[in-house]
Amino acid sequence: MNSAHISGNQSPFDKVLKLGLGPVELPDIAFQPYQPELRKDVLIHVLFDNKPGDPKGSDAALIRYLPGSVTPRHLHMGYEMVLVLQGEYVENDVTYLPGALIIRAPGTTHAMRSDPGCTILAMRDIPVQQLT
Ligand SMILES: [Fe+2]
Repeated sequence: MNSAHISGNQSPFDKVLKLGLGPVELPDIAFQPYQPELRKDVLIHVLFDNKPGDPKGSDAALIRYLPGSVTPRHLHMGYEMVLVLQGEYVENDVTYLPGALIIRAPGTTHAMRSDPGCTILAMRDIPVQQLT
């Protein structure tokens, strides 16, 4: 693992891989506010969402954190996989840069933020439980 790529303390339950990515350019797609009552300045472009037909259904989305954005802590009931595409993504005070692939195990919690902003690809196999 490249220490310049990921910094800070990581949970022993995390699995983090560094993928070699070139600059990622996204198509001109629309982002909507994502749970603005809960998250600050976080946008989403849903790729698929199985929750309407199944309360324990999976989902995937491109998520954009605007500069200064914050997501409060939640608990993962299942796995979550995040690939950082652009910017600086901070989970539990650990900074991840583009190419970081983060696998969150069931039973782990995290809070997220981005000071300069970022875009991630996120997939969850079961919805999360909000803790705050
Ligand atoms: Fe999460």
